[in-house]
Amino acid sequence: MTAFDVSERRIWDGRAGSYARTFARLCAHTVPALLDAASTAAGTRLLDVGCGSGSVTVAAAGRGALVRAVDAEPGMVAATRRAAPGVDVRIGALPQLPYQDGEFDAVVANFVLNHVGRPLDALVELRRVTRPGGRIAVTIWQVPGSPGQALIGRAAQAAGLVRPDWLAGVDEEHDFPRTPDGLGALLSAAGLGDVRSERVDWDHRAHAEDWWAGPAAGVAAIGQLVHSRGPEGVAAAKREYDLLCGEFEGEDGLLVLPHAAVLAHGAA
Ligand SMILES: C[S@@+](CC[C@H](N)C(=O)[O-])C[C@H]1O[C@@H](n2cnc3c(N)ncnc32)[C@H](O)[C@@H]1O
Repeated sequence: MTAFDVSERRIWDGRAGSYARTFARLCAHTVPALLDAASTAAGTRLLDVGCGSGSVTVAAAGRGALVRAVDAEPGMVAATRRAAPGVDVRIGALPQLPYQDGEFDAVVANFVLNHVGRPLDALVELRRVTRPGGRIAVTIWQVPGSPGQALIGRAAQAAGLVRPDWLAGVDEEHDFPRTPDGLGALLSAAGLGDVRSERVDWDHRAHAEDWWAGPAAGVAAIGQLVHSRGPEGVAAAKREYDLLCGEFEGEDGLLVLPHAAVLAHGAA
């Protein structure tokens, strides 16, 4: 495991419930396009990697796919089992999955490659468990992102919070441009064919207090940043957040938060 993987394990440890109530709603936006890209239909043997609290698994099962799922965090595995009773959900961490070569017609990973320390090795593993000609579809956050993605980070910065020392970044040798070209090139480097990659933009709408609830519960790296100086730091960041929210308020009082992701897919 890289230092980044070690900090990711720590970030997600025990966060399944808070994730399900907060950021899972945001990540759900790309699920229909992701499943389309993986040609998901009734009878497709599909693996949902990094299943989180189960959004992709539930949607794929709703299409009649024969879904299995895997996640590195035991709490997420339990959450997906609750959301999709009867689905085989296992604990497993990229870049090594507990499946045989070519077991699946399609493999998807929604906002997971941005949480692994060796993304190319992870893609090679997704390809290994996909049958030749089967489809692999993944999403990541676009970098630079859209303004809605930066809101909480700006609040933390204005409150003087700094990234905790233990929160590692991806090693330079394993990193890649978080753009359609960058992710598409990574899929090609992993041996996928017929690679397509596109940017996906949308406005996420949320009550200001709901949007704050994720980081306030310590979810994701941004949640760790918000908690880096204890309760006093959280309160300071919240004050800054309340001031910045005005920039994003829509007519109905909800925040309108522009987000940008990259969706890439290819054939094993
Ligand atoms: C942002 S969440 C996305 C969850 C889900 N795919 C969704 O769309 O809601 C990232 C998920 O990836 C999982 N994860 C992080 N690193 C992983 C790894 N190396 N192998 C498998 N899962 C991992 C986390 O535990 C978490 O559930």
